[in-house]
Amino acid sequence: MISPTLPIPAQDPHVPVLLNEVVEGLAIVPGETLVDGTFGAGGYTRAMLGAGAGRVIGLDRDPDAIARGASLVPDAIDTGRLTLVEERFSQMDRVLADRGLLPVDGIALDIGVSSMQLDQAERGFSFSKDGPLDMRMSQSGESAAEFLNHADEADIARVLKEYGEEPRARAVARAIVAARPLTRTAELAAVVRKALGYRQGQKSDPATRTFQAIRIHLNAELDELEQGLRAAERSLRPGGRLAVVTFHSLEDRIVKRFLKIRSGDVPSGSRHRPMAAAGPPPTFEQVAKPVSPSEAELARNPRARSARLRTAIRTDAPAWDQEKTASAGRARR
Ligand SMILES: C[S@@+](CC[C@H](N)C(=O)[O-])C[C@H]1O[C@@H](n2cnc3c(N)ncnc32)[C@H](O)[C@@H]1O
Repeated sequence: MISPTLPIPAQDPHVPVLLNEVVEGLAIVPGETLVDGTFGAGGYTRAMLGAGAGRVIGLDRDPDAIARGASLVPDAIDTGRLTLVEERFSQMDRVLADRGLLPVDGIALDIGVSSMQLDQAERGFSFSKDGPLDMRMSQSGESAAEFLNHADEADIARVLKEYGEEPRARAVARAIVAARPLTRTAELAAVVRKALGYRQGQKSDPATRTFQAIRIHLNAELDELEQGLRAAERSLRPGGRLAVVTFHSLEDRIVKRFLKIRSGDVPSGSRHRPMAAAGPPPTFEQVAKPVSPSEAELARNPRARSARLRTAIRTDAPAWDQEKTASAGRARR
C-alpha cells in the first residue's frame, strides 16, 4: 500500500482506479521525473508525489481539469514539483522537450473520461443526466449535436458499430436521423432505447453503447491512445516504466497489441510462413500480465469494474517511430 504524503481530499470528485497497482508498476525512486498523461482529478499525480517523485508533469486535454488541478495540489505547484499543461498526451514528447525534461523515468495513462466529466450534466457525456449533447473533452471541435444532426446515416452507423460494438447500429442510426434535430442527452437516450426496445429495469441500458461510441469518435480516443503509446516510447529513458489503465476492450486491445509488438513477442515462422520478418529491436520488456481491480476495490468503486492495467519497462533500443506524431500538425486538441 502506498501512503501518499499529499492527502486525497475528503470529497475527491474522482476515485482513482487501480491506484496502488499503478504506483507499484511505476516503481518510483525518490527524485525521479514522471508524467501523468491524464491528470483528471490528480489522483495518480498525488500518489506519484507521495511516493517521492521529484517532479511530475500533469497533462489533460480538458481545460477544467487543468484549472481545478492548481487548487488540488497547490503546494506541489508552488514548489515546482508539479507542472500542469493543457495538452493531449499524444504530444507529451514535445511538451517534455520544450521544457528540457526528456527522457523521463515513468509515465502513467488512465484512459477515458473522469467522474467529473460524467457527473456534470452540462458536459453531455451521461445518458442518465440530461444535458446538452456535447461530449467534447477539450471543449473545442465538433460537438455530439453537430455530429448527430449533420452526419450521414451510414456514418453514424459505422461509428456505433466500430466504437460501441452496437449489434443493431443501422437501426439506431436510422432512428437518430428520423428524430433530428437532437439537442439533449435525454432525447438521444430515449431515441436509442425506443429503437432497441428497452424495458425499464433491464440489466444494462442500451444507450451505454451509443454514448460510448459517439464520445470515442468525437474525441478520436483510440487514435490518441495509439499516438500516446508511441509518444511514451519516445519519452521514456532506458529502464523507464509505463503504466496504462484502460476501461474497455477496444482500448485494452490497442495497449496489449502495442506492447506485444514492441517487446518482440511476435509469432515465429510457421511451415507456411517460415521466416517472420525481423523487426527493429524491442523497445519494451518485462511486459506484465494485465491487472484487474480487487474485490475490495470493486466494492468501494463499482465504476472500476472493467479497468485493466498493463505495465512494461523501456529497453535501451531506439524508438521505432522517430518522427513526431502525425497529430502534431492537426488543429484538434
Ligand atoms: C479517467 S480520468 C483520469 C483520472 C486520474 N487518473 C485521477 O486519478 O484523477 C481521464 C482524464 O484524461 C483526460 N484525457 C482523456 N484523453 C486524453 C488525452 N488524449 N490527452 C490528455 N488528457 C486526456 C480526460 O480529460 C480526463 O480528465
